[in-house]
Amino acid sequence: MRMRGERLRVFSGTAHQRLAQDVCAFMGVPLGAASLQRFPDGELDLKVECDVRGADVFVIQPTCPPVHDNLFELLSFGDCLRRASADRITAVIPYFGYARSDRKDEGRVPINAKLVANMLVSAGYHRVVTVDLHAAQIQGFLDIPVDHLYARPVMIERVRQLGAQNIKVVSPDIGGTKLARAYAKNLGCDLAIIDKRRISGEQTVIENIIGEVDGHDVLLVDDMVSTGGSIVDAARIVKEKGANRVFLTATHAVLAGNAVERLNSADVEKILFADTIPLPDERLQRLEVCSMAQLLARAIDRIHRSESVSKLFESES
Ligand code: R5P
Repeated sequence: MRMRGERLRVFSGTAHQRLAQDVCAFMGVPLGAASLQRFPDGELDLKVECDVRGADVFVIQPTCPPVHDNLFELLSFGDCLRRASADRITAVIPYFGYARSDRKDEGRVPINAKLVANMLVSAGYHRVVTVDLHAAQIQGFLDIPVDHLYARPVMIERVRQLGAQNIKVVSPDIGGTKLARAYAKNLGCDLAIIDKRRISGEQTVIENIIGEVDGHDVLLVDDMVSTGGSIVDAARIVKEKGANRVFLTATHAVLAGNAVERLNSADVEKILFADTIPLPDERLQRLEVCSMAQLLARAIDRIHRSESVSKLFESES
């Protein structure tokens, strides 16, 4: 007789199959067979090709651009697995799209992160695993358990090898201070903050730098790079204020519009991105990818065994 949770199954949507394959390789399990096709009108035609009855199932799918296609695949997987009698269904969302729509900061706007959270639960998911949420409080939008993983331990390992001298961590905006402070603490260095004002989705204005960067190698830390406007402007301003070398690190490389061209033209030594989103490796110069596959594999393994996920970060604070 099969016991509850005995069988583990990992599936992937089409958003980031390489990451899902790497996760499975670390775990020593095959990627679950599923067919993802399109009907002639563009609607999704999904079929899970193996038995999932009673299984503990994980679906790996970042909701990166094209966000609606990727999100719908994830929702459709949830519905499909629930109807196929999976025991527990976990959405592994390395990049959680719409996370910046987390509050009503003006009248008559939606809170799309909450809408996405509602849809995940309605689709049949029992649990979410994600990495560096833009706003940690989004966990509260989901009335199911959320395991929030941090890319920082993996990124920091690589940052230490960059050979930066007299390093100062800089946050490109006030909202990113908490993340940047955690990097500064790990590196044992000080923090400076850029006072940025957003004018539109594409345009920001830098008002001021709080802290000194003159004579320092600067590590710019952000949770995501979308148009590249924030981080490239920040790189320029710290150079103007006397920084020596500038390094960029961010977890989620959304890279919308002409972000790649912007980053290629920036005066920076190295760009470290996590692989929560597929990266245009060949087009982006000075890029180094820090893979989240092992971290995700270890988290999935721990969840499957009902072991603590926080333990993965215990040496961090
Ligand atoms: C802002 O709150 C975020 O942390 C990022 O700084 C921002 O979303 C990046 O967007 P962009 O690359 O378009 O400036």
